[in-house]
Amino acid sequence: MLPFETEAYKMSYVRIKIMKASDLRRALVLLLLLCGVLMVYFFSQQTSRLNIPHLPDTLDSVDSQSAYAAAVKTDARWTWACTKDHCEKVSAATADRIQSLTTCNMLCGNGPKVWPVPSLPSKIGTQSVAFQIQQIQLESFSKKTTFGYVEHAFNAFNNSVASYMQKRDDDLAQIRSEIDNFIVKITVVFAHIVKLRLSTDESYNLTVNLNGKNIVATIQAKTVFGARHGLETLSQLIWWDELDSGGTLKIVSSAAIQDKPLMPYRGIMLDTSRNFISLNAIKRVINGMAANKLNVFHWHVSDSQSFPLEIPSVPQMHRYGAYQNDMVYSAREVTELVDYARLRGVRIVIEIDTPAHAGNGWTWGPQENLGELAVCVNAQPWFMFCGEPPCGQLNPENPQVYEVLERIYRDIIKMTGEDEIFHIGGDEVNLDCWEQYLFKNLTSTNYTDLHNLWGEFTLKILNRLDQANGGKRPTHIIAWSSNLSRRPYNMKYFDKDNIIIQSWGASDWSETRELIADGYKVILSHVNAWYLDCGFGRWRERGEAACDPYRSWQTVYIHQPWSYDPLYKSHTLGAEACLWSEQLDELSLDARLWPRAAAFAERVWSDPKVDPDTYGITESVYTRLTMQRDRMMARGFGVEALWPRWCTQNPGMCL
Ligand SMILES: *[C@@H]1O[C@H](CO)[C@@H](O)[C@H](O)[C@H]1NC(C)=O
Ligand SMILES: *[C@@H]1O[C@H](CO)[C@@H](O)[C@H](O)[C@H]1NC(C)=O
Ligand SMILES: *[C@@H]1O[C@H](CO)[C@@H](O)[C@H](O)[C@H]1NC(C)=O
Ligand SMILES: *[C@@H]1O[C@H](CO)[C@@H](O)[C@H](O)[C@H]1NC(C)=O
Ligand SMILES: *[C@@H]1O[C@H](CO)[C@@H](O)[C@H](O)[C@H]1NC(C)=O
Repeated sequence: MLPFETEAYKMSYVRIKIMKASDLRRALVLLLLLCGVLMVYFFSQQTSRLNIPHLPDTLDSVDSQSAYAAAVKTDARWTWACTKDHCEKVSAATADRIQSLTTCNMLCGNGPKVWPVPSLPSKIGTQSVAFQIQQIQLESFSKKTTFGYVEHAFNAFNNSVASYMQKRDDDLAQIRSEIDNFIVKITVVFAHIVKLRLSTDESYNLTVNLNGKNIVATIQAKTVFGARHGLETLSQLIWWDELDSGGTLKIVSSAAIQDKPLMPYRGIMLDTSRNFISLNAIKRVINGMAANKLNVFHWHVSDSQSFPLEIPSVPQMHRYGAYQNDMVYSAREVTELVDYARLRGVRIVIEIDTPAHAGNGWTWGPQENLGELAVCVNAQPWFMFCGEPPCGQLNPENPQVYEVLERIYRDIIKMTGEDEIFHIGGDEVNLDCWEQYLFKNLTSTNYTDLHNLWGEFTLKILNRLDQANGGKRPTHIIAWSSNLSRRPYNMKYFDKDNIIIQSWGASDWSETRELIADGYKVILSHVNAWYLDCGFGRWRERGEAACDPYRSWQTVYIHQPWSYDPLYKSHTLGAEACLWSEQLDELSLDARLWPRAAAFAERVWSDPKVDPDTYGITESVYTRLTMQRDRMMARGFGVEALWPRWCTQNPGMCL
């Protein structure tokens, strides 16, 4: 990829602000050059067509980008040649063919350059053909699917392809093509399944062939979810070569891919309580998950700081708990988001953390004669009663708390349609909060060990959950690992056939090992590898920085806890990368998630081999992840840089 592409260009406005004087001169020259290019472009548009084109009014408009990119790219100085399975940057003047770095990377070396890498043996050819986007047609051989799922997934695929093109829409017909038709054939066996479950078959087979002058891509899947993954992979076998004839779309002319996920639960957790994150930003997270074949969006929607979710039957929650009136997710928006996610192969699991991590949003009890629903809310000094300010814990002694929770649970099940998995929270209960604020009250003195008060609270809310779910227990209840999931309490309060523990303790803690030894199924979110919020220093005066250091994408990628012990794999339903939002809102959301969540995605989808001696990561992983970054950037994500672009342009030379 050349240096002046869309992303770098979009950022130029921001960068000028922080440039040194010497850079400023260069920026001015660039700006002048840009103006020149725009004028030439504008002029040529006027002379070649009668209608007057609109002038780009902002620097990052699509028009100015493509005009600028075209000007830079007419003069290719470098090209890439495939030598010994990797691409070398060579002078265009002496090369026998000119191809872009992406073309070289796609066709050079073994295996498809897709992310996550397929989990089953797959092949890809070394030739490509150029085509035009309007040549792509869908032939679906499935019974009509609910929501027109396949058609929708196909449109999303077509949009991904469109995003790669750095050309203007009205130039589409001028783009070079070597074929007549590009046919996508999709067959789904069980077309009626449109609800993602842990048992859903997400596998697919994808072949690409050049038959005469037709490209035929065939996707076979058991379910629409597998078909969608197949389309995602197909979109990754397509790329833009900016050096060929002023820019062409290309696809490999042959491929045979078989693929299925290693784990049924591949999650991202996002906290929207510490800082509010808009619905649009959440949709972008879901799009990014779809691009990396992740399938569970665990929405840690509330915490002690704020309660931004509308619960229609308990509107006090968001009225008292939201930061601002416009920092609320309405029930209708949530329902829409659930459909939005489903079409992208993602299910939404909402967590209302209890009994701890609950404060603001629960303060209206006394006004409505329901008593204190939560105790030690915003108590000071906070460090006596909770791990971070502000404190707050539900009041297990107040029967109204269970009434309210049942209504919350009922509304969440209604909004999400999710009756297989339910997350009850259960994180970091502070017994001192209860002791201090409840012990004065007679009934509480019955407990010599307040863990039992916590355990009984849990049993009671599970009963309420059953009521809310039409009288039956959701198949899987997820709870965070805690003192209650440890011996001796776990056996007493957590039914191992029903409760899955989301184990977040560091991988060298005994926590996960003991849970597995005790027969629990787990979802792994090890803090030392998969907490993406760590490493940003202190956010309050007191105490250590939350969880330094930063987990680099390599740390995320090589973490393979199930390799230590064969029992691990059979008890692991999946894994989840967590993003807590104390120091995050949507301004930095993309860069904090990507590319690290993509690295995580490959670990849980195909779990490529990790050399236990070196923990080294091979060159092909760097190349593929860089290519995935490029794709995601083209699709509009602000993905953080992996390394200097020089390393991308000179594969293997930085390792
Ligand atoms: C795919 O996208 C292109 C560019 O936006 C558009 O011209 C074309 O009609 C789309 N194809 C289909 C089948 O929707
Ligand atoms: C993919 O092809 C293999 C081998 O022919 C077959 O066993 C498998 O069932 C196919 N998978 C799907 C999803 O069609
Ligand atoms: C404790 O009991 C007293 C007297 O019954 C009551 O006024 C108070 O609200 C209770 N405190 C809590 C936190 O429930
Ligand atoms: C506490 O003990 C008293 C007396 O034995 C009993 O009436 C009450 O129900 C107990 N409270 C709880 C919460 O178990
Ligand atoms: C968890 O239990 C241990 C003892 O088993 C205790 O020392 C610790 O304080 C407890 N942690 C919390 C948060 O209650």
